Amino acid sequence: MKEKPEEQYAVITGASQGLGRAYATELAKRKYNVVLVSLPGQNLQQLSDWIKREYKVQSYYYEADFSVDSNILGLTNWLNENFNISILINNAGIGGSKAFDEASVMDIHTIIQVNVKATAVITHQLLQNLKRQPQSYILNVSSIAAFSPVGYKTVYPASKAFVHSFSRGLCAELKYTNVFVSVIHPGAMATNEEISSRIEKQGIIGKLTLLKPEKVAQYSVSRLLKRDTVIMVNPVIWLFSAILPIWIRLPMMTKIVKREISYEKCLYNGC
Ligand SMILES: NC(=O)c1ccc[n+]([C@@H]2O[C@H](COP(=O)([O-])OP(=O)(O)OC[C@H]3O[C@@H](n4cnc5c(N)ncnc54)[C@H](OP(=O)(O)O)[C@@H]3O)[C@@H](O)[C@H]2O)c1
Repeated sequence: MKEKPEEQYAVITGASQGLGRAYATELAKRKYNVVLVSLPGQNLQQLSDWIKREYKVQSYYYEADFSVDSNILGLTNWLNENFNISILINNAGIGGSKAFDEASVMDIHTIIQVNVKATAVITHQLLQNLKRQPQSYILNVSSIAAFSPVGYKTVYPASKAFVHSFSRGLCAELKYTNVFVSVIHPGAMATNEEISSRIEKQGIIGKLTLLKPEKVAQYSVSRLLKRDTVIMVNPVIWLFSAILPIWIRLPMMTKIVKREISYEKCLYNGC
C-alpha cells in the first residue's frame, strides 16, 4: 500500500474464526473499517472481501504467526505505516488441556507468546497511533479462567490473569488520555467444533453456560464504547467463581478438566 488512508480502522487479531471473526463483523456492521489479522492460510482474503461487499466498509488483512517475535513487529510496523487506528482488539489467544509434564516446551512457549507477549507488544507498538486519533479504544480478550487457576490447564489461566492485570494497569495509566482500555472475561464459547465438544464433555455446567461468540462480540463492543473497564459476559459462571472459595473451586475444576482429558485419551488410545 502506498498512501495512508485518511479513515480510521479497527484492528482485530485472531480474526479468521470464532470470537475474532464475530468482532470483525460486529464492527463492520457498525460501519467501522477493519484490518483483519490471522495465522497464515486461514482464508482471510475471502473473509475480508466478504466484509467489504456485505457491510460497505474498507477491509484489509495481514497474516502473521505470533509465535515468532519478528512477525509481531512486522505486523505493527505495517499497521503504523498504513493506517490510523482507533480500535485495537487483542483477541488472538490459545489454550487447551494437558498434563503439564506432557506439554512440550513449544506448547508452553506458544501460549505465553500469543496470549501474553503479543498482547503487550502489539499494544505498546500501536499506542502512539491510537493516541493520535480523537478517541481510541483497546479491548483485550482475557477469560473467566483469569480468576480461577485450574490443574491440567495451568499456563492458560495464568496467561489470562496477565491479560487482566495488564489491561487494568494500562487503563489507569491512560486515564487522562484519549485511549480507553477494557478487558473482557468470557466463559466457554462455542467458537469451533473441538471447543464445543470439549465443553460438552464437562457435563451440565459446561452445557448450561456455553455462549455464542456473536452475542459476546455484540455485547462487549457496546460495553467497550460505553467505557466499561471490565466486561463480564457470563453471570452464572462469574457468580460461581465469586461465591465458591478457591479451596473448593480449584480441586473441583481440576477434576472436571482431568475427566475431559481422560475421556479424550480413551477415545484416541482406547482404555
Ligand atoms: N472459546 C472459548 O471458550 C473461550 C473462552 C474464554 C476466552 N476465550 C478467548 O477468546 C479468544 C478467541 O478464542 P476463540 O475460541 O474464538 O479462538 P480459537 O478458535 O481457539 O482460535 C485461537 C485464536 O488465536 C489465534 N491464534 C492462535 N495461534 C496463533 C498464533 N500462533 N499467531 C497468531 N494468532 C494465533 C487464532 O487466529 P486465526 O485462526 O484467525 O489465525 C484464533 O483466533 C482467545 O483469546 C481465547 O483465549 C475463548
